[in-house]
Amino acid sequence: MLKNKIHILSIAFLLAGQISKAQSAVWLDKLDLSVATQGNGKPGINTSVDGKKLTIAGKTFDRGFGTHAESSLLIKLNGKATKFSALVGLDDEMKGHEPAVEFEIYGDNKKVWSSGIMHLGDQAKPVSVSLKGIKQLELVVTDGGNGPYYDHADWVDARFETTGVSTLETFNPIASEPYILTPRPAAVPKINSAGIYGVRPGSAFLFRIPATGERPMAFAAKNLPKGLTIDSQTGIITGKIDTKGTYEVLLSAKNAKGSVSKKLRIESGDKIALTPTMGWNSWNCFGHEVSADKVKRAADALVRSGLVNHGWNYINIDDSWQYNRDGKDPSFKGQFRDKDGYILTNSKFPDMKNLGDYIHANGLKMGIYSSPGPWTCGGCAGSYGYEKQDAESYARWGVDYLKYDWCSYGGVIDGLPDNDPSKVPSLAFNGGGDLDKGVKPFKLMGDLLYGQPRDIVYNLCQYGMGDVWKWGDETHAQSWRTTNDITDTWASVKSIALAQDKAALYAKPGNRNDPDMLVVGVVGWGNPHQSKLKPDEQYLHISLWSIFSAPLLIGCDLEKLDDFTLNLLTNDEVIAVNQDALGKQGICLNTIGELKIYVKDLEDGGKAVAFANFGREKAKLSYKDFKKLGISGQQTVRDLWRQKDLAGIDVAVQSLPLDIPAHGVAYYKLSPLK
Ligand code: GAL
Repeated sequence: MLKNKIHILSIAFLLAGQISKAQSAVWLDKLDLSVATQGNGKPGINTSVDGKKLTIAGKTFDRGFGTHAESSLLIKLNGKATKFSALVGLDDEMKGHEPAVEFEIYGDNKKVWSSGIMHLGDQAKPVSVSLKGIKQLELVVTDGGNGPYYDHADWVDARFETTGVSTLETFNPIASEPYILTPRPAAVPKINSAGIYGVRPGSAFLFRIPATGERPMAFAAKNLPKGLTIDSQTGIITGKIDTKGTYEVLLSAKNAKGSVSKKLRIESGDKIALTPTMGWNSWNCFGHEVSADKVKRAADALVRSGLVNHGWNYINIDDSWQYNRDGKDPSFKGQFRDKDGYILTNSKFPDMKNLGDYIHANGLKMGIYSSPGPWTCGGCAGSYGYEKQDAESYARWGVDYLKYDWCSYGGVIDGLPDNDPSKVPSLAFNGGGDLDKGVKPFKLMGDLLYGQPRDIVYNLCQYGMGDVWKWGDETHAQSWRTTNDITDTWASVKSIALAQDKAALYAKPGNRNDPDMLVVGVVGWGNPHQSKLKPDEQYLHISLWSIFSAPLLIGCDLEKLDDFTLNLLTNDEVIAVNQDALGKQGICLNTIGELKIYVKDLEDGGKAVAFANFGREKAKLSYKDFKKLGISGQQTVRDLWRQKDLAGIDVAVQSLPLDIPAHGVAYYKLSPLK
């Protein structure tokens, strides 16, 4: 009897074991997709990213994961899955646009499959990969090399074959709690300006001394060149210098708690923007919803938040101050320009000169945007054929900065088809790499701006085509985008950051590589949301843009600044590296696994060093390889984010302990011990 029972029990156990080892199907759409990171919107469960029926090349699907490039989803398999299969493709909901993506699958960080570049209308591509022995799987959608625009990408009928488990765990290993590192500014005065400022003789001079400390504060400037005066209450210096020359000025600030002085070298000559531009741009937060009112409020917020006291001073209007070709503006009467070819502003910008005056009255500068083609990227009137009038309008309105795009110029690179701008698509990117035809429109506008009776900083926005860093200076530009548009995703920040080194040696005072704007705070291109970058990713982003000597343009809604974002943007030691007068761009001199170590030489003989961890695991090590960084002897190590000296070390014999979070950074300054 007992024997029988034991027998029955053991058969039951055996069966149970077989059942639990049995193969089962686990659908991707049943997993927690909310941890995925993606370029836009929220992960669609059995829907596209826009919440519609999943549709690829005319076929609809009931199940799947609708996402947006650049996208990443991590899944723990722990050897429990044997196969993954799916169909992939671009969702039809973006018909009329030209998205491109590449689907990729990584097993334990090794690429195991890729779709190749896919376009809208391509049949869904089948994928079936063996997962034997793989612990961790990553499903990735890249931007296909043409930026993440309209990249609505679907994984449909996606499922795993598993053994012994009925679900799988998705995860995101990057910490999400914000933490504050920058100490609050002290009550005593501190001047935070760069050490150098460039102006052309005869141009309007406008410089607001950035200073932290308790208000009221009284400002003064010794040895100001003839033609300049300072307002002692605001610290705004105005006027004009008629002659070329170098002027060593001593700025000072005084309040109830004390006083301070700082040298400023004014270079009156040919070069402007000797240190990277710092300010705000409307595109990443407002997109086409920008208006004069929002721009004024941004200027007010820049002052009220105290950002201005750390050197942030440009207020740049991006696309959509002109009439759009869609003709929807209520005041549009079919004309983009007046009878003499001068551009008309849309109803949201009733008076540009007045807006310029408002911005300048705060000691700030005004920026604007256009494109060399007949249309901007957003379909507004571009400068093609009217470059002279546009340059004159900018000067008349008091514009201090022009961002000049590419977009529709591809459609007129060989002339205007049928003499009809309406035949030119707004997005025609071809030809930018052609060193003859692609340089021409930038040189044309650059020469015209250079001829205006005011300094207009010139930024080229053609995404690095034709190695723009090699010829941008010849067009009178001071900065140029090196890469495609940034988005608030790790994939975007990482790929842009890793693409900067090739241009680094071309950077110098007055010439900057521009990796695009800062994606911190409330961004969203008209759909406001908090940046999707995790706190450590934001520290890494700001540290690298600092060490790259990149133009620093805040892309968020300044009226919605939270403590974390404000803190991130007001670290004067991090900013000082960016603004260093030597003007070098930091470059990666050592790579250890996924840890990249960037080094920038500074004017005072010190070096900024950013240990940037691009990996998903924390980097804990004792760092010794200082030779590779060009650092020797006794050094003081200062933590720039904490504004604290860490240690004095002799790098020949001692090592530096590092413990850097995943996707995080340690940002230090090493100075030879005197
Ligand atoms: C893009 C540019 C963006 C923004 C946009 C406006 O080409 O890279 O930063 O300016 O055009 O339409």
